[in-house]
Amino acid sequence: MQDFRTVAVAAAQQAGKIIAEACGADYRVDYKEGAITNMVTDVDRRSERAIVEILHAAFPGHRILAEEGGEHSQRKSPYRWIVDPLDGTTNFTHGFPAFCVSIGLEVEGRIVLGVVYDPLRQELFEAEAGKGALLNGRRIHVSKVPALNKALLVTGFAYDRGSRQRNLEHFERFVLVSQGLRRTGSAALDLSYVAAGRVDGFWELRLSPWDVAAGSLIVTEAGGLITDFAGHPFKSDGAETLATNVLIHQAMIEILAGK
Ligand code: IPD
Ligand code: CA
Ligand code: CA
Repeated sequence: MQDFRTVAVAAAQQAGKIIAEACGADYRVDYKEGAITNMVTDVDRRSERAIVEILHAAFPGHRILAEEGGEHSQRKSPYRWIVDPLDGTTNFTHGFPAFCVSIGLEVEGRIVLGVVYDPLRQELFEAEAGKGALLNGRRIHVSKVPALNKALLVTGFAYDRGSRQRNLEHFERFVLVSQGLRRTGSAALDLSYVAAGRVDGFWELRLSPWDVAAGSLIVTEAGGLITDFAGHPFKSDGAETLATNVLIHQAMIEILAGK
């Protein structure tokens, strides 16, 4: 059997090629649930098809949960691939260069492998449980920034307006106490950037498993911490994501709680 990492990297790079080639070209755009903010393009679908084909050919018995196609198999297997074929679709449609492919592998509910590939910068973030996190083959580590007033933070806003409203309150508080605040539009890149020490903390409401499965492992393997907003263990199907360099985690929990 081929090794999981090699296949995941090959799938992410093949999908990245499709996305990079389509950037600036013509493609069809549809709106999910009629919401103008929630787009899906042909490129999302083509990317997903390529990934699913590669995973399925290598591991026909595995389950695959992919954003645009849902569960691709009903088989009972402890292995489940969790795929976002294009994370940052809004950026992609505007030519704003922040989007990626995210592929995670879960075994009996535990993420054991994560690959996030940015096709424009050709940056490959990856982690295997217990083996550390890498960027283009080199070890990465979360930052050593010790306090919020020296921290660069990043967040995102979910498509549903209720949680956008709630996040605006968090946003307002963090903008007053941090050194800087960013919104990249790709949660998988946000998590990878926490892992690489480019940002010190990330929070968001109502992400989906495909946004966070790979990135959550990349953060912890880089020495970071990921939990819900109260510091409880992180669940990729939970409503809250808080990922940091550990040092500012408690301070972020307190701000999120309105203290
Ligand atoms: C979105 C991005 C964005 C986040 C949204 C996600 P998509 O994923 O990760 O950063 O704020 O909540 O839905 O739809 O571009 O794959
Ligand atoms: Ca996504
Ligand atoms: Ca997506």
